[in-house]
Amino acid sequence: MSIWKRKSITQLLAEASDSEKGLKRTLTAWSLVALGIGAIIGAGLFVRTATAAAQNAGPSVTIGFIVAAIGCALAGLCYAELSSSIPISGSAYTYTYATMGELLAWIIGWDLILEYAVGAATVGIAWSEYLNNLLVNVLHVSPIPYEWCHSPFQHSSDGVSGIINLPALFIVAIISLLLIKGTQESAFVNGLIVVTKVAIVIMIIIFGWHFVNPVNHTPYIPKPSVYTDSHGVGHSYGGIMGILGAAGTVFFAFIGFDAVSTAAQETKNPKKDMPIGILGSLVVCTILYILFAHVLTGVATVEDFRGEGGEASVAYAIQKYMVGYKWLADFVTVAILAGFSSVILVMLLGQSRVFYSMGNDGLLPKVFSEVHPKFKTPYKANLIILIIVGLFAAFVPGDIVGDMTSIGTLFAFILVCISVIVLRKKEPDMPREFRAPLSNPSFPLVPILGVGVCLAMIYGLGWTNWARLLIWLAIGLIIYFTYGIKNSKLNK
Ligand code: ALA
Repeated sequence: MSIWKRKSITQLLAEASDSEKGLKRTLTAWSLVALGIGAIIGAGLFVRTATAAAQNAGPSVTIGFIVAAIGCALAGLCYAELSSSIPISGSAYTYTYATMGELLAWIIGWDLILEYAVGAATVGIAWSEYLNNLLVNVLHVSPIPYEWCHSPFQHSSDGVSGIINLPALFIVAIISLLLIKGTQESAFVNGLIVVTKVAIVIMIIIFGWHFVNPVNHTPYIPKPSVYTDSHGVGHSYGGIMGILGAAGTVFFAFIGFDAVSTAAQETKNPKKDMPIGILGSLVVCTILYILFAHVLTGVATVEDFRGEGGEASVAYAIQKYMVGYKWLADFVTVAILAGFSSVILVMLLGQSRVFYSMGNDGLLPKVFSEVHPKFKTPYKANLIILIIVGLFAAFVPGDIVGDMTSIGTLFAFILVCISVIVLRKKEPDMPREFRAPLSNPSFPLVPILGVGVCLAMIYGLGWTNWARLLIWLAIGLIIYFTYGIKNSKLNK
């Protein structure tokens, strides 16, 4: 038994074309860009931006967005290179299996649970915040009591403790059921939501621009200090460290463009459509994010985001400062609820496809790769994911799952960049429809820079998050050495 055993590229491609047990090929380049934007614009923008401003960087969260975008673009180019040459389901997991062997593939597959499943839980929790805003400020009815929409680790300002986050649990359950029915239908609903989501971001930028108070932008980069959050965790605030921390936090807002690559096996023409899907969605979002963050931190203050405005922050800022725009706050609230749903959908889709691949490979039990006879979806995987995501959504605070998602994804991106370097050495002649630019085989500049920028963001996220990542990876290793290594098909 070898933990370094690799899958050959030929073997991977043969598996992909084995359409008997495979998934339906229905997605086009446009549906991929839509899928990407559907996954990308979500809680990262509408919730984590305010958190990063409050905890790390104040208005300079915009610079954090730029750093995060650079990291994503570099990793995105690596993703595009890999997905154009290995167009099969499973994302970074699959790429690592082909390049760096089984153990690392397992580590990345395990790590991707942080990105997709824990990420879906984060957005579910954000959904719950905006649901309460809908009830109170749009429908003018009573909110869901604090204890039923917060985790046991959260306490309200008047001393009430959370018990369970029921709305977060509810939304992940609904979306899981939708996914079991099939991705084609889901992609259509997603298309409608994407248009609405982009529309509200543009409206907030345009209308909010007139309400930007220059005082809130002064100083643009706060002086370095330490901010202690409500869980007692200290964050570097201001200066370069603040910007890096903010980049790590808002990096969450970019997660999802890589989820596009998990749908390769369901794409009509993956070699051409994958790079378009991945990079197209990234470019559109980056421009919108920087403008949006500039407006949000100009309209409301850091103190707002540290207090009451920390929940449903965008609606809060509009309601408090943009007089005459209550309609916009209402519209944003409704649209965000729909928008978050599409993000959850893509993340759960990504997670089920990763599990599907791992089940196929024997690293996870076979139930993960069983396809529904009628719907052609890995429905059992979806149900198991529902349990995992549900537990995180119901019982862990949004800030914690949010940062865990960011650090897990950054780690995955680093391995993807390294995969490109390794694959160029090991399989120099493999057909690549798309190559990361500015790099030749002896000096792959883009992947190297990608590793560097992602590492800087991991550094910015601080030791609490490094510890969480290490514990998570340790649990994964125990599972691999007690189950995966013995059941791996490649090892048999
Ligand atoms: N990028 C996604 C979001 O911000 C995960 O919700």
